[in-house]
Amino acid sequence: MPVDLENQHPLAWDSPTLDADTKAMLDNLQPNILHAHVREHMSVLLVQFNDAAEGKAFLRNLASTKMKSARTHLEELRDFVVTGMEGTPYVGVGVSQAGYHALGHSDAEVSLFADETFRAGMKQRITLVSDPPVEEWEQAYRLEIHAVILIGDATPGTVDALREEILGELPASAQVLGKEIGLGLRNPAGDGIEHFGYVDGRSQPLFLKDDVDAEPATVWNPFFPLGNALLPDPLSPNPVQHHGSYLVFRKLEQNVRAFRQIEQDLANGLSLTGIDRERAGAMLVGRFRDGTPLTSKPKPSGGPVPNDFVYDGDDGTRCPFSAHIRKTNPRSFGREVLMARRGQTYGTRTDQPWDDSPPQDRPTGGVGLLFMAFNGALVSQFEFTQQKWANNPKFQKPGTGLDPVIGQGPRDLQVSFPKAWGQPELSPPQAQVAQTVTMKGGEYFFAPSLAYLRGL
Ligand code: HEM
Repeated sequence: MPVDLENQHPLAWDSPTLDADTKAMLDNLQPNILHAHVREHMSVLLVQFNDAAEGKAFLRNLASTKMKSARTHLEELRDFVVTGMEGTPYVGVGVSQAGYHALGHSDAEVSLFADETFRAGMKQRITLVSDPPVEEWEQAYRLEIHAVILIGDATPGTVDALREEILGELPASAQVLGKEIGLGLRNPAGDGIEHFGYVDGRSQPLFLKDDVDAEPATVWNPFFPLGNALLPDPLSPNPVQHHGSYLVFRKLEQNVRAFRQIEQDLANGLSLTGIDRERAGAMLVGRFRDGTPLTSKPKPSGGPVPNDFVYDGDDGTRCPFSAHIRKTNPRSFGREVLMARRGQTYGTRTDQPWDDSPPQDRPTGGVGLLFMAFNGALVSQFEFTQQKWANNPKFQKPGTGLDPVIGQGPRDLQVSFPKAWGQPELSPPQAQVAQTVTMKGGEYFFAPSLAYLRGL
């Protein structure tokens, strides 16, 4: 029975009754797609192949000796819970459309990838999402990137050693165009955060039965069918059993000082006092720094970070329509757009990102998010989110403005914010908040099946 990508039941990956094709899918799928892999420390290599045979031999060897399957990852996780035994590091690979050509695939073969956004490559799609011109990107990203190699683990030592080993195996014909170092950030509660100081990575489409069962789901259903992230790998030996996922990779620099100043200015402008000042930033993000959803609570509430909420009955006076998480997941519609986000923060800080130190103590650059997300279709998930929702000042309601975190494009429209949580009185119209996240480069990749890589 072919893998049912639209199956409306969470996947019980270790069920003894799993059909042969689904088992084969899990044995040939890369980890970190259906369930996030630990990658507190991460090395990213951006590679160009200049000899098809050598590039193929490198990837074949990498996949055969250093890459595990999704199933092995899930088994390691289960064993960790039972025995406390640490799992093995994550090695993931994405190949761009230019990369497939460089590995010797014909135009006809590359055209088997149905997604036009992938087939075009990120540089060709910048105007659609209002990205900066390629000349303004960091040098590595201006070049033709063929593959991204992701190496992740809980400790830096294993990641560094594995990266050096992999670099040592690269053929002389290949070139490392760039390297990134991802470094996880956590708040005192232990939750992963991004550089503006907010809990991140909480809301995710969930595919596996164990993950879905662990989530309260009274109003928001966290389950998504596999097709949200997976598609048959068209160049694999057997696309009925071998699957992959489109991977969007974007280096997003964050001007933390400017964002913190904007939070303060907004709080002052609305005359917010005491703990209510925290609402200013929450109106931009849609959650308080500790992850409390603004649509549910007027103040940060601590405890486990909730994700079982929708915006029913919230006309924008609790959580503005423009808030980052409301723009990128309105929840009452457009479920099929949500992506499996697997980003990692980069850059080191001398200050504490979660605390209330003044803006002048904050970095203006050199830190940010290596945004990564797995998609069943880039055109209708990542690209759609950025273009039609985040960059759209009229999304859901006229006059709401761009997404204050990731919105790109003209900010000429004036916007208002609710003066008090849930109350109809609005502030006088004011300029939209300035852009504090800058795209420094990126590429669209496909994370192929292990069967494809091992058969190269
Ligand atoms: C959620 C920050 C880039 C899409 C979040 C959350 C934070 C955040 C704090 C809340 C945590 C959660 O609900 O899991 C950021 C920052 C970014 C960034 C600082 C850039 C530096 C992006 C991009 C996209 C995106 C580029 C897609 C175009 C989403 C989505 C959610 C989310 C879909 C989940 C919303 C939900 O389901 O409620 N982000 N983000 N983010 N972000 Fe971002």
